Amino acid sequence: MLLDARTPAGLDAALAQAAACLRAGGLIGLPTETVYGLGGDAENPAAVAAIFAAKGRPADHPLIVHVADGEAGVSALARFSSSLPPFALVLARAFWPGPLTLILPRREGVARAAAGGQNSIGLRCPAHPVALALLRMLAQGPQPLWGIAAPSANRFGRVSPTSAAHVRSELGDSLLVLDGGDCQRGIESTIVDCTRGQPVLLRPGPISRTQLRTACGQRVLLPAEAKALALQQAAPRASGTLDSHYAPRARVVLMDTNTLEAALHSSALPPRVALYVRSAHVQALALALPNPVLARMPRSAPAAARGLFATLRRLDDADMDAIWVEAVPDGIAWDGVRDRLQRAAV
Ligand code: TXA
Ligand code: MG
Repeated sequence: MLLDARTPAGLDAALAQAAACLRAGGLIGLPTETVYGLGGDAENPAAVAAIFAAKGRPADHPLIVHVADGEAGVSALARFSSSLPPFALVLARAFWPGPLTLILPRREGVARAAAGGQNSIGLRCPAHPVALALLRMLAQGPQPLWGIAAPSANRFGRVSPTSAAHVRSELGDSLLVLDGGDCQRGIESTIVDCTRGQPVLLRPGPISRTQLRTACGQRVLLPAEAKALALQQAAPRASGTLDSHYAPRARVVLMDTNTLEAALHSSALPPRVALYVRSAHVQALALALPNPVLARMPRSAPAAARGLFATLRRLDDADMDAIWVEAVPDGIAWDGVRDRLQRAAV
C-alpha cells in the first residue's frame, strides 16, 4: 500500500502510520535521497529477520542502520557504535544528513542481527525530509527507536528502486510504502570503513573520493590499497561489492564509444537491443536505426546517477534481450555510476 508523503497534507498521517508499523515490528518501504529502503526496527531481531526474508538476502550480509540528525543522531551514534575515530566524526559532520554510510565498531550486544553478526555496524543519517521526519519522530518519547535497518528495497541482486512504484513492483502491494517521490541521488550511498585506522572506501557513491579527502584531509584508501598495507580488520562483507549486482534481466553490455559506434554501423545488429548512450554522434547513429529503443544518458555524473536505475528498469521492461550501454568517462566523479554499470554488466 502506498502512503502519499509528498505533500504536507498527507505527511503527518503517513508518518504516524509508518511509525506505528515499525514500533510493532513491521516493515515499511522508506524513501531516502539515494534509493528506497526496506526498513525495520534495527534492534528488533524479528523485524531484521523479516527484512532478510523479504529480500531473499543471506542473513550474514550486514544492513545499514539509519539514524536521525541533531541530538537524536548523536544519541543513536553512541548507542550503536563503541568508538568514533576523529576522521569519522569529521566525515559525519561534513556529510550528514547525506549519502554517506560509515562502518564503525559496533557496541557489543546492540543490533547484532542487523549487523549480520559482525562486530562493526554501518550507520547513515539520510537527507530525505520524509526519512528524517520519521527518524526524529521515532527517537522521541519514553521508548525511543534509535535506528531503522534498511537495505535497498529490491530483491537480492536486482536493481535498486528509486521510486515508490519500483518498490511495489519488487516487493508487492501488501508492504506499506511511504511515497516520497523520486530519489534525487539515484545510486546507493558511498560507504567508508572507519574501523581500520584510516578511511577505506568500500562502495563508491554520490560522495566522491575527492570530496571525502577534501573533508577529512586524509587519503581515502581503496580496498586493495588497504589490503596491501595489511590494515587489520575481519574483512567486512559488503553485498554491494559482489561482482554481479544491480542486474536487470536483459544482458547489459558495456562498450566504449568507438566499439559501440562500430557495432551500430555493422549490419549484424541483433534484434531486441536497447541502447543507453551518452555522446551526440552515437545518439544520432542510434536514432537512424529502425525503431530504436533508446535512452540518453545525461552529461553530468549526478544527473546520470539520478536516472540510472529507473532507465535500466524501463529498458528492461521493454522486454529486450540486451541493453548496450556506452561507457562513462574515467574521472573520479563517475566512480559511482561506473561501478553500478560494471556490476550490472557482469
Ligand atoms: O543508499 C544506501 O546506502 C541505501 C539506502 C536505503 O540507505 N541502502 C543500501 O543498503 O544500499 P544495502 O543493504 O543494499 O547495501 C548496504 C551495504 C552492503 O553492501 C553491506 O554489506 C554494507 O552496506 N554494510 C552494511 N553494514 C556493514 C558492515 N558492518 N560492514 C561492512 N559492510 C557493511
Ligand atoms: Mg542493495
